[in-house]
Amino acid sequence: MQNKMKVWVMGYRSLVGVTPLMSLRRNRTFAFTSSSDSALKWEGGVSMVQGASRGIGLEFVKQLLEKNELGHVIATCRDPNGATGLLDLKNKFTERLNILELDVTKESTIEASARSIKERYGYLNLLINASGILSIPNVLQPETTLNRVEKSSLMLAYEVNAVGPILVIKFGLQFSNRSREQSGKNFSKQHMWPLLKVGGGSGTNRDVAVIANLSARVGSIGDNRLGGWHAYRSSKTALNQLTKTVSVELTRKRDQIVCILLHPGTVDTDLSRPFQRNVPECKLFTKEFSVQKLLHIIENAKSNDNGKFFAWDGQEIPW
Ligand SMILES: NC(=O)c1ccc[n+]([C@@H]2O[C@H](COP(=O)([O-])OP(=O)(O)OC[C@H]3O[C@@H](n4cnc5c(N)ncnc54)[C@H](OP(=O)(O)O)[C@@H]3O)[C@@H](O)[C@H]2O)c1
Repeated sequence: MQNKMKVWVMGYRSLVGVTPLMSLRRNRTFAFTSSSDSALKWEGGVSMVQGASRGIGLEFVKQLLEKNELGHVIATCRDPNGATGLLDLKNKFTERLNILELDVTKESTIEASARSIKERYGYLNLLINASGILSIPNVLQPETTLNRVEKSSLMLAYEVNAVGPILVIKFGLQFSNRSREQSGKNFSKQHMWPLLKVGGGSGTNRDVAVIANLSARVGSIGDNRLGGWHAYRSSKTALNQLTKTVSVELTRKRDQIVCILLHPGTVDTDLSRPFQRNVPECKLFTKEFSVQKLLHIIENAKSNDNGKFFAWDGQEIPW
């Protein structure tokens, strides 16, 4: 236990370089609370899964909690009281699971979550944006032809699938800018981003923090042979470009943060259910299988993976 504590402090020093003692003490209180029992409260790392009420997001939360018995997970969703799958997990992993409200179309909820995470944990090792929409009865229908394209569908898909996940990432930075003003001379690089490389957030020895955005192969322009699904397809293309752009900016940061896009395969969830008729059985994955594969990619992420778009099997997908 003591060794791990030492490693954390050394890691911290190496991150911030020469740090005023006051600043070091203040930051240590984020990770170390007053009682010695809770001193290593976050030693297994802190992961956030956004869009965790059901489907792939919920499965990520489950596997992260099960695979790393010390890891802490923040699961966000639109309606925490109605998220029965998450509430079941909360009963089992009371101490290590924290459920927060976050609707990607409401910036105030994104900011409130970022603030809450900053105050309670101080950092994240892993952020997974898993939310997404493809169809909503009477609101959003995947278009089979240009005639069916509606402005409202395009705008909604962009808002939820592209704008939302990027704002979730952005709020980490904005939040930190406020810390810069507040901390004045004591401002250090550590405040630039709440995602730090203090060991692996998912039970590995990964030395980079990871941001993983759930995209879809249909978002690839190079791979577009079938057409259709204009709103969903182009919203994922927009997500890909926004994520790639963030990844370029991340290379200029001192802390190593790897930002990747993931295609989970065709997975048996509410999202794909109305469209599964023509999918061969062997190509329809369970969420357990898909998330196992995606976590493998995340756990093995290296700095040169930054900005890449991976399928569930680790193959790169053309833009
Ligand atoms: N399933 C597939 O075959 C497949 C294939 C390729 C890519 N993907 C991508 O994988 C991701 C997960 O998909 P899934 O299959 O797990 O879908 P899902 O079962 O339909 O779950 C979608 C999740 O997104 C959340 N969500 C929707 N709108 C939101 C908003 N405004 N703010 C916050 N959360 C919101 C939902 O929350 P609520 O419960 O509140 O609605 C739910 O937790 C998506 O990005 C999807 O595009 C899936």
